[in-house]
Amino acid sequence: MELSRRRLFGYSGVTLAAGAAAGAGLVSVAHAGDDRPADEEAVPFYGAHQAGIATPVQDRLHFAAFDVVTDDRNRLIRMLKEWTASAAAFTGGHPYGSAAGGLGDSPPDDTGEALGLPPARLTLTIGFGPTLFEKDGKDRFGLKAKRPAALIDLPHFAGDNLDPARTGGDICVQACADDPQVAVHAIRNLARIGFGVVSVRWSQLGFGKTSSTTPDKQTPRNMFGFKDGTRNIAGTEAKALDQHVWASGSDGAAWMAGGSYVVARRIRMHIETWDRTSLQEQQDIFGRTKGEGNAYGAKSEHDPVPLGKLPATSHVRLAHPDSNGGVRILRRGYSFTDGTDGLGRLDAGLFFIAYQRDPRKQFVPLQNKLAGNDAMNEYVQHVGSGIWACPPGVRKGGYWGEGLFT
Ligand code: HEM
Repeated sequence: MELSRRRLFGYSGVTLAAGAAAGAGLVSVAHAGDDRPADEEAVPFYGAHQAGIATPVQDRLHFAAFDVVTDDRNRLIRMLKEWTASAAAFTGGHPYGSAAGGLGDSPPDDTGEALGLPPARLTLTIGFGPTLFEKDGKDRFGLKAKRPAALIDLPHFAGDNLDPARTGGDICVQACADDPQVAVHAIRNLARIGFGVVSVRWSQLGFGKTSSTTPDKQTPRNMFGFKDGTRNIAGTEAKALDQHVWASGSDGAAWMAGGSYVVARRIRMHIETWDRTSLQEQQDIFGRTKGEGNAYGAKSEHDPVPLGKLPATSHVRLAHPDSNGGVRILRRGYSFTDGTDGLGRLDAGLFFIAYQRDPRKQFVPLQNKLAGNDAMNEYVQHVGSGIWACPPGVRKGGYWGEGLFT
């Protein structure tokens, strides 16, 4: 690989210096240009599981899908090491390398727009898509044998109208933070660091979380105005997380133990039609009231759901675990509005994100059922999609996906 001036003095220099000097007091090189202690509001980056899954949902999202544009496995690994070091810096509230104090005759290492901002609970979560393991019949990186059986190519679901430009991707990174500038800064700098190795295939900004993983807090509302995430897996439910979210070594792919599979769907919501629909019909579609969010036949939002009292085609009745042999998923989606659709309507909807232990047993049967029967289908359309295997958390000194490449 060409060793440009930028790689010598830019981010590569930072990693070499930080790696060689770990324990020798020079690691602060990675935080040059920012001497503010940045521990407040920081979510720990290292751990058994990646942050950003069971972590209490932050306010904002920048989700990016990347294509790998090199066939060079070693370059890819080097980039993943760089990404890991930079992700650790960003989530700690630091720039990666120098944002303003470096050499005057080369671009700064870090783009700088997050300087002075708190970490805002930033989490960065990486996933590897099916095409990283095999694309057009080619085993580009010698990973084919390591593809987990659970990392399927998603089937076509009834009503899907997927835009190839918003679907798939070899790698995904989910950036969540309470400040959109912090999330965007992280994705922008990962893309910049990965120049020549990856390119952004598509990305999605999200606001207004549509799911809660903290049931004791006020449940957020989606673009239909309904509380969303009432019955979700909470980040504190260790047993449910083990059962439904974290992959286990015994599931088949040893390198995925402690990881999870993410399915993302860009779901357009036809809010203009919805807004002309009667309150009664809106409520019948979910089987819950709009104000309190109680299920039909129940008093309060968090009361058990008496399924028989809900309309047969209501979303909640169809999606409830008792209608699906106990299947649960961890939802972590966000609302979006991306301008207009050129027809006088907002291009608005829900960027659905779900984490699970095995999509073959969780998202796929659930979505098959919803796609075929859900009364909500009249008002929504799935227009983008992706599935990725998110490896377990990183230990200090390791890197994102280490188990996959070793
Ligand atoms: C625009 C699309 C969607 C909207 C507006 C929406 C909205 C809602 C709302 C308002 C609830 C009730 C509150 C709650 O328990 O969280 C709910 C529950 C749920 N939804 Fe969705 N949803 C959408 C798509 C999906 C998809 C694609 C899936 C899975 C394939 C899904 C799975 C679930 C599940 C599992 C529940 C909890 C059911 C229960 O345990 O009672 N949703 N959704």
